[in-house]
Amino acid sequence: MIYNRAMAYTSLYRRYRPDTFRDVIGQDHVVRTLVNQIKSGNIGHAYLFTGTRGTGKTSVAKIFSRAVNCLSPEDGSPCGKCEVCRALAEPSNFDILEIDAASNNSVDQIRELTDKINFPPTTGRFKVYIVDEVHMLSKSAHNALLKTLEEPPEHAIFILATTEVHAIPATILSRCMRFDFRLVPLKKIEERLRFIFDDNGVKCTDQALRMIASAGQGSVRDALSVADMCVSYCMGDITYEGVLEVLGTSDPVRLTALADDILAGNVDGALTKIAEMSDLGKSMSVLAGDLASLFRNALYVKNCGNAAELLALPAELFAALKEIAGRYDTRRLLAALRKMTETEGEFRYSTQHRILLEAAVIAAATEPRAAETGGAGIKELEQRVAALAKRVGALPKQGFEPAPAKKDAGQVWRRVASELTRMGRRMLGIALAECRAEEKEENFTVRVFSESAMQMLGEPGARAAVEEALKASGCTKPLVIEEERKLDEKDVVPFLTDLFGKSLDIK
Ligand SMILES: Nc1ncnc2c1ncn2[C@@H]1O[C@H](COP(=O)(O)OP(=O)(O)O)[C@@H](O)[C@H]1O
Ligand SMILES: [Mg+2]
Ligand SMILES: [Zn+2]
Repeated sequence: MIYNRAMAYTSLYRRYRPDTFRDVIGQDHVVRTLVNQIKSGNIGHAYLFTGTRGTGKTSVAKIFSRAVNCLSPEDGSPCGKCEVCRALAEPSNFDILEIDAASNNSVDQIRELTDKINFPPTTGRFKVYIVDEVHMLSKSAHNALLKTLEEPPEHAIFILATTEVHAIPATILSRCMRFDFRLVPLKKIEERLRFIFDDNGVKCTDQALRMIASAGQGSVRDALSVADMCVSYCMGDITYEGVLEVLGTSDPVRLTALADDILAGNVDGALTKIAEMSDLGKSMSVLAGDLASLFRNALYVKNCGNAAELLALPAELFAALKEIAGRYDTRRLLAALRKMTETEGEFRYSTQHRILLEAAVIAAATEPRAAETGGAGIKELEQRVAALAKRVGALPKQGFEPAPAKKDAGQVWRRVASELTRMGRRMLGIALAECRAEEKEENFTVRVFSESAMQMLGEPGARAAVEEALKASGCTKPLVIEEERKLDEKDVVPFLTDLFGKSLDIK
């Protein structure tokens, strides 16, 4: 149990990078074509891999670049045993070059690379260049790359990978064989997670597993990051409640009850539930997002025959949605969804998140009645809202008040996490939620102790996003990120002996 906790510090998605095509899940269409090329020896000079992050682009590029060189590929995959495979497994080899265009995007760096391309490979048949995030190259760097793509030497293969295919110039697109990586189906992610958990002796209930898999939203890497956080959070066996807490997702039972109140026009009940959730420390902007996705999902259930498949939700959540979808009509659900998404946008300009959410909920709960009763009804409605607002002591009489002067750093940080979610960086928000924050005189310091969080922060644009989120959360001090000492597998024994003394017997 304790051993698992320490293990979690080496991120799962790095330990479980597939080494062969057999281990790649959910990309059968890509794998089949590449394997056939290896088998027939009919290999191209330029490939473009596109698709959402964490769906296997880099992994497949690495496998392919070893497979084209392997002396005796096994079913199209690198054997891992021959001298070439062994040489190419060394990160210092000269034949497989990985370039991250996000950090090496200048024309000089591309020139340097393309200058060297004329030298033949040192170990295998091919020199393979993997250019990750190729859309980040500057215009002149693109042109330099294009020149090489036009007339590559026989021994060169380019694999370009990108999440933003629309940002790739047509001149480059037209020279590449293109492979679109798909979102990985929930079932496949579940199977992979189960395999990885079993491999590590981690127990996890089916319900919890499903929740982790669906949090990845089709990205294996994101699902594995969530799994990582759950392993360290739960310190052993992973429970459904633990996963919900890691994800910061609202308890589905409460959330469904709240949605039901809103749709039924029960303002009183809805405000009481919001108050309870607020007292529990629930972020109001996250709650607004959760409500919006619930209404959206209910609309799917109501209007799409294959909603179960599309939404890929745990069974009991789906059943609750079905009930809601059955009780209310599409117009009603749509109105509630509109109100919530509208409000989500406003969170960035306000620090009074609870008030904002309450106002939106009241509006959503009473909307159709206002429309039905016309002008006179609105007056009555306003009075009702004012009376209610007074009772919960929340709504100020006029407009929104400025931010309260004193906030504790934890609160600010939680807001940063939900702000990141709002900015479309949900994984980053989740990963950073468990960091420790401290507001100092001269800066806002955040201590990060998970490797996956640190890794995510290192991604292009991540730090800038956190800085923006911090500003939006009302803190103007500069952001300082400190990394806590990582615990590696080799550190586990000293860590445990530290904790329990030398007598401890670890297998
Ligand atoms: N299709 C997949 N099959 C198995 N594992 C995957 C797949 N896609 C991603 N992963 C996991 O996520 C990690 C990151 O994947 P990566 O290939 O770098 O994705 P991308 O380049 O598309 O962002 C891998 O190390 C692996 O653990
Ligand atoms: Mg990648
Ligand atoms: Zn080999």
